[in-house]
Amino acid sequence: MDRKYSLGEYIDIINKALGDSVYAAKDGQDYITEAMRYSLENGGKRVRPVLTLEFCRVCGADIDNAIPFACAVEMIHTYSLIHDDLPCMDNDDYRRGKPSCHKKFGEEYALLAGDGLLTLAFETALDGQTSVTDANKVKAISVLARLAGVDGMVGGQVLDLQSEGTSPSLEKLQTIDRLKTGALIKSAVLLGCYAANVNDKKLLKSAEEYAACIGIAFQIVDDILDVTSDSETLGKPVGSDIKNEKITYVSLMGIDNAKAEVRALTDRAVKALDAFDGDTSFLKEFAVKLADRNK
Ligand code: IPE
Ligand code: IPE
Ligand code: MG
Ligand code: MG
Ligand code: MG
Repeated sequence: MDRKYSLGEYIDIINKALGDSVYAAKDGQDYITEAMRYSLENGGKRVRPVLTLEFCRVCGADIDNAIPFACAVEMIHTYSLIHDDLPCMDNDDYRRGKPSCHKKFGEEYALLAGDGLLTLAFETALDGQTSVTDANKVKAISVLARLAGVDGMVGGQVLDLQSEGTSPSLEKLQTIDRLKTGALIKSAVLLGCYAANVNDKKLLKSAEEYAACIGIAFQIVDDILDVTSDSETLGKPVGSDIKNEKITYVSLMGIDNAKAEVRALTDRAVKALDAFDGDTSFLKEFAVKLADRNK
């Protein structure tokens, strides 16, 4: 098994790998790679790629095997944020501590920067020297495509848009959060396992349970911070959900109940880690850190 890494070390590794993976355009279309880099580099918490690397390590492999997958998930996440901020979506002008991609580069290029990151993600996932078997690479790419798409993040964004101005039930809200946010987090965790060539169904199920719990908890905290935090701390506007008439855990059950839900989900996530033989202390602390975060 690879040595242990701190969160700071992981973030440095991810930032370096992401910086290296956006290559220069050949025919003068550098404006788009500039826009892709602008949104991808700096500012993000890197939650998803950290999960990919640590799950790979806990499952007994060197984290180098998981770096291409980790970058791919972060690229897809970044594209989802660029598109989420567009005027036709949440219409938010500030992201990761600076003007949103469309404010800086224009809507048409923000759209294309998102497309560029989505496609680069799949190219990157298949790049690099790793000891992941071809079978597991195929499995990983297939899972990533599915969870990023209509059966995952894209589908969740659709339901999220359709729910604006309505009063969805708690069950519907859970579905939205499971898809729009949980799905990519699940892909991050599963790709970490695949990078370590894990095929044990029981272990993969436990990884999924951890991901499912922290995924919903992550969106609930995001919704809480949209009400309780300030834009300087968050690096994005607050009050976006109220502006867009979104029903969230906070509007549905109040802040205290929403926080209690986060605690219960975090406990469940920590419990799911019992299935792993490796040292899961980082993942336990990470779940708690995400629940307690202020940005
Ligand atoms: C924001 O994700 C969008 C949600 C799914 C809640 P993050 O809070 O991970 O955003 P960054 O990557 O740190 O900017
Ligand atoms: C976004 O949810 C989920 C995505 C798939 C991008 P939000 O719309 O609440 O994310 P923020 O608050 O803009 O980061
Ligand atoms: Mg949104
Ligand atoms: Mg948004
Ligand atoms: Mg939000």
